[in-house]
Amino acid sequence: MAIVSVHPRPADEVMSPTTTSLASSQLIAVGECRSAIIETTASAAPESLETVTAAPRKNWVFDMFRLDGRVAVVTGGARGLGYAMADGLCAAGLSGIAILDLQSDLGEAACEQLHSEYGVCARFYRIDVRDEVAVQCAIDSVVQDLGKIDILILSAGVADLVHAEDYSAAKFKRVIDINLNGSFACAQAVGKHMIAAGRGGSIIFIGSMSGSIVNWPQPQSAYNASKAGVIHLMKSLAAEWAQYHIRCNAISPGYMETPLNTEFEETYFREWKARTPMSRLGQPEELTGCALWLASGASSFCTGTDVLIDGGYTVL
Ligand SMILES: NC(=O)c1ccc[n+]([C@@H]2O[C@H](COP(=O)([O-])OP(=O)(O)OC[C@H]3O[C@@H](n4cnc5c(N)ncnc54)[C@H](O)[C@@H]3O)[C@@H](O)[C@H]2O)c1
Repeated sequence: MAIVSVHPRPADEVMSPTTTSLASSQLIAVGECRSAIIETTASAAPESLETVTAAPRKNWVFDMFRLDGRVAVVTGGARGLGYAMADGLCAAGLSGIAILDLQSDLGEAACEQLHSEYGVCARFYRIDVRDEVAVQCAIDSVVQDLGKIDILILSAGVADLVHAEDYSAAKFKRVIDINLNGSFACAQAVGKHMIAAGRGGSIIFIGSMSGSIVNWPQPQSAYNASKAGVIHLMKSLAAEWAQYHIRCNAISPGYMETPLNTEFEETYFREWKARTPMSRLGQPEELTGCALWLASGASSFCTGTDVLIDGGYTVL
């Protein structure tokens, strides 16, 4: 009953309009998730090669963005930008999604929502990305529970506003540890799995426009430094892991309307909008198209790129 034939091809290798989808051959159905995986992919997977080759050519460009049969891990996916991207990837056909986050109540609710909406096999793992041992353990569990990992989105992150002269070493270090070191720990654990599996994959770092510019007027030196580090880490891993068909890219948002920022609504929103050419903050789902492009075969020749999505903030 389980479908366990895995092709030794990069998971996101671009498909021509007339080649068969990898979806049906890449599935590894496991444990209690088996029915969810099979159910999810049954409608999307072709019944035979003939069915596929006879399919109307007009859909080929949209098919490049499909994620049928793939498994994704999203850190910080319990809410905000991470959840919005997880939602979009599930809508594109994922068979499995793992949410890794500190907040159990939100993470479990997110998984329930994704499962009921899309039938995807969704699992929550409570971790602190600063704890490399817990991260490795969670990634091992994801591979065991969902069969493999094709896509990783690194959205766990924090920000705080402290004047540099008043920053305690512990507070500064906390931001670097979560945003930069935490991203490395998760990328390394998933990268090791992808290298061993030999199928490649796509890793999407969530940077920030703060990695390229200094936000003003609020003081956020640790955050800015952490995001500059994230973007350069992404480029370093893109170079190192290209030989394994692992693509690494970043999405760098400008000001977005998420729980991370709600406390600044009264103090800063007006100023932030005034400094943004589009005169508004972004909505979480406005990253989804880019995340889907980077996760899928539609971006198969793209690695080491940082995509700014900031309403024009950084052009000024
Ligand atoms: N919202 C923005 O304006 C904005 C702009 C640029 C970049 N970003 C980046 O996007 C990412 C997501 O931000 P968001 O706005 O969705 O924030 P958010 O606070 O809504 O979500 C962040 C998630 O990360 C989790 N998290 C925090 N610390 C963690 C840890 N140590 N271990 C595991 N999980 C942890 C939180 O529990 C939360 O669910 C962050 O990296 C952030 O820096 C956000």
